[in-house]
Amino acid sequence: MTQRRPPRGGGKAHRFGGGWTTAKLDVLAKYLASYTTALKDKPSKEHPFRKGYIDAFAGTGYRDARRDDESSQASLLLPDLAEKEPQDLLDGSARLALKTEPRFDRYVFIERSAERCAELEALKTEFPDLAKDIQIRQGDANTEIQDLCKKDWHSHRAVLFLDPYGMQVEWKTIEAIAETKSIDLWLLFPLGIGVNRLLTRSGDIPASWRRRLNLLLGNESWYDEFYRVERTRTLFGEADHVVKATTETIGRYFNERLKSVFPAVADEPRVLRNSANCPLYLLCFAVGNEKGAPIALRIANHLLTKGVQ
Ligand SMILES: C[S@@+](CC[C@H](N)C(=O)[O-])C[C@H]1O[C@@H](n2cnc3c(N)ncnc32)[C@H](O)[C@@H]1O
Repeated sequence: MTQRRPPRGGGKAHRFGGGWTTAKLDVLAKYLASYTTALKDKPSKEHPFRKGYIDAFAGTGYRDARRDDESSQASLLLPDLAEKEPQDLLDGSARLALKTEPRFDRYVFIERSAERCAELEALKTEFPDLAKDIQIRQGDANTEIQDLCKKDWHSHRAVLFLDPYGMQVEWKTIEAIAETKSIDLWLLFPLGIGVNRLLTRSGDIPASWRRRLNLLLGNESWYDEFYRVERTRTLFGEADHVVKATTETIGRYFNERLKSVFPAVADEPRVLRNSANCPLYLLCFAVGNEKGAPIALRIANHLLTKGVQ
């Protein structure tokens, strides 16, 4: 059932794995197993819910190399060499979810690329026992998630993984997820790879970048949090200069935003760094339902701070 099958199209993009990708997927896989184990004996009379896994940036099912630092840079520098190397295809988030034991009742894979959706379709052949419970939705993650969140979640629980390359996630999508009160969220927040790059040193930010930041962060309050004016003495008298927030401050701000809509949020999201030790993403976790919050948070905190890598 779980035999490895090389991807048909776009496979060359899915060949390596960097340290931070491994860390991210390890945390996810371990959480999924804990989650379905904890809910194993349900549905019961008290908890008549079915459990789902939703992957809103699903990829192909195999690990995506494009963000893995050293190895993908090497493949860009030496593409011929890289293509001839034996390729160790590693599981991406979708396959990890399908391999999770005990199993989920339902799997929803959202992916914008038609080619990658075709790869995801092939997973049904590979996991025939699960095929009827796999739904693949080609489309934009924000639109699809907001649509899913409008449904009646009364008898459902889910884990949702938001793993974008950059700043694609909109705050209103995060609000919609929180409003279901049923979905645990793992999210890669584009700390260094997105937000920090758009925050210019001077504080003069082009209108299109501001709009992008507003969509991601939900309002404009970030500007005053991320920039302050300091007055210093110079040889020629006093002068004002703008001080930009550190990545720690940016990360803390976003985590506080999550806390404003979810019943519980992991206090120490994992900072995912490249080989030069630069922070790329924050791996954040938020709990959907108040009742399950203590145990979910305990597991997530353990995985984020001690459990893996
Ligand atoms: C980082 S990869 C996902 C990797 C995947 N989670 C894994 O572990 O294998 C991001 C994926 O999101 C897709 N994507 C990009 N923008 C999207 C959008 N707005 N809506 C849905 N999918 C999108 C890309 O085609 C790509 O396959």
